[in-house]
Amino acid sequence: MATSEESVTSISELRRLLDSERQAGHRVGFVPTMGYLHAGHGSLIEAAAAESEVVVVSIFVNPLQFAPTEDLSAYPRDLSRDLDLIAASSRTATRVIVFTPTVEEMYPTSVLTQVSVSGVSESMEGASRPTHFAGVATVVAKLFAIVGSCRAYFGEKDYQQLAVIRQMALDLSCPVEVVGCPIVRETDGLALSSRNVYLTDSERSAAPVLRRALDEGVRLIGSGVTNADEVRSAVADVIVASPHADLGYVEVADPLTLATVDQISHEVRVFVAARFGRARLIDNCSASPPPNQ
Ligand code: PAJ
Repeated sequence: MATSEESVTSISELRRLLDSERQAGHRVGFVPTMGYLHAGHGSLIEAAAAESEVVVVSIFVNPLQFAPTEDLSAYPRDLSRDLDLIAASSRTATRVIVFTPTVEEMYPTSVLTQVSVSGVSESMEGASRPTHFAGVATVVAKLFAIVGSCRAYFGEKDYQQLAVIRQMALDLSCPVEVVGCPIVRETDGLALSSRNVYLTDSERSAAPVLRRALDEGVRLIGSGVTNADEVRSAVADVIVASPHADLGYVEVADPLTLATVDQISHEVRVFVAARFGRARLIDNCSASPPPNQ
């Protein structure tokens, strides 16, 4: 059982530690994060600890995935609280390593090599934030190259990100098994997010509308509605009725390719994005037509 986590800031030191753990026959579970951890991150750490002797949690606010207009400098940080949450979530692991590299350690020169994944990264978040997924895929490819052979845990909260990383790991033959984990929510349905801290009290009260809108999509699809446009507009209607929500998009897509669906004949994924004041929030869920359809 881990007594306390170790902090490592150097790439070469982390490689050395993990190589010797793997030589000793120990499995490595890896949870990449940008810190300001909450129970959603905690669920990934628990999953990693349940399946591996050694858990690595990286905390790195990756400048490459923020556009110049986005919240890089304001992104919330609290390392000592993060270390407490990691300790509480990783009790079943024998060793817990927290990797907190500086920007200079990760990007010692300007970055001339970027990983960009076409197809799955182009719609939704990729359309709204054109440089975002290249920044994510580049840092995760680097982290996979640093950590080496492992299982890596990602939340379905960022479902499109998970699809981009799965594709990237496949295309680049990364020695990594990518594991998707379910979304952790507040009791009123709001998906946990580090960015929820930006919400004012009234925006926070309004934000669960995203979950209610997704529920409406699930209800319609489950009741036999096959026209995806009808579902999209009903879901959008729920969100725009909320005084604080500025709708970004509603999408009904194939759960694997993320291609837009026109006629619903199998399980789909419903996606929503909306801005509440300073916070841009996303959510998604699975929806299936009735079994006999
Ligand atoms: P971050 O937003 O810190 O999220 C780290 C991981 O936690 C991601 O896999 C995300 O999907 C997961 N997560 C966040 N909220 C969750 C929730 N409510 N339930 C379940 N899982 C949740 O995503 C990133 O960081 C970055 O893009 C990163 C992959 C680290 C690359 O920089």
